[in-house]
Amino acid sequence: MITGTTGSGKTRTASTIANRVTSELNTRVVILDWHSEYSYLLDRYKLVDPYSNPLQLFTGDPNDISVISSVMELTPPQEYLLEKILRKVNLDKLRSLDLFLDYIENYSEESNWMKETKLALHRKLSLLIRGKYYLLFKLQDPELYQTIITKISEDKPSIIDLGKILDINVRKLYAGFFLKRIVDTFISAKMPLVIIVEEAQNYLSKTQAIKPICDMLREVRKFNIGLIIISQSISQLVEDVAVNTNTKIIHSLKSKQDLEIVEKALYLDYDVLTSLPYIEPGEAIYSTPTIKKPVLIKIE
Ligand SMILES: Nc1ncnc2c1ncn2[C@@H]1O[C@H](COP(=O)(O)OP(=O)(O)OP(=O)(O)O)[C@@H](O)[C@H]1O
Ligand SMILES: [Mg+2]
Repeated sequence: MITGTTGSGKTRTASTIANRVTSELNTRVVILDWHSEYSYLLDRYKLVDPYSNPLQLFTGDPNDISVISSVMELTPPQEYLLEKILRKVNLDKLRSLDLFLDYIENYSEESNWMKETKLALHRKLSLLIRGKYYLLFKLQDPELYQTIITKISEDKPSIIDLGKILDINVRKLYAGFFLKRIVDTFISAKMPLVIIVEEAQNYLSKTQAIKPICDMLREVRKFNIGLIIISQSISQLVEDVAVNTNTKIIHSLKSKQDLEIVEKALYLDYDVLTSLPYIEPGEAIYSTPTIKKPVLIKIE
């Protein structure tokens, strides 16, 4: 976990880690670059354009619906209807997302409530084919798991250029699915990977967490997947983040709520805790299980 107030050095710290991990540890690194800023910070990188790398929406995994439902804020009836439609429809025959939306629109409803639910569901999902966005997702992709590995460079960090997706909900959905797909792929290929999740409040906020991504925090470590969770404010994130991250890099923090969580999670000495609001950009408290006590560090 990397946290700290705005401008405290989180992104620069993560880019330093990304560099070191690819060059010295021979491990692949993927950066979910929320604001499209890492290409300015890294000398060597591979840029991945979301619009040339569509993601499969439905793989038969029930978690797919859970991702869509939390990002698009589906109501329980809308989620239920989506599940029901997915059970009936033959996705192989439909091929494209707009045909799937037509299918939803023409789905024969059995009751009045269903009609309204259906229209609302259709309206919400229509965002995914507006303008250029139809390039971001596809219904079927039998080669998905093979192709996704080839997108990730072996010897330099791969930057997923999320900032290109202007609508925040569409960006969240693409990023959420990317994270899910890449973790599943690398686990089944038994390959190690480090993933940098910038602006993690978009995936893991208390008010709108994507459940399959919360679950990942607990499970990925045993599969050699490293997640680097970055956020300005840990008090806004689900508790799993503070609890399930082994190593913590805490840059300067000013908010009382955030300082309280750090105090509880790390048992910091009083003088270290009270200095946290005043440390310089790039300075941080570093805590990891292999050292006894958190130490003050300065990132290069
Ligand atoms: N290790 C460092 N050494 C010297 N200066 C640094 C260091 N890290 C960050 N800075 C300075 O602080 C500025 C902000 O850093 P950075 O963008 O990494 O912060 P951030 O915490 O990611 O901010 P935000 O919350 O806005 O994303 C940088 O432009 C740089 O000038
Ligand atoms: Mg940043």
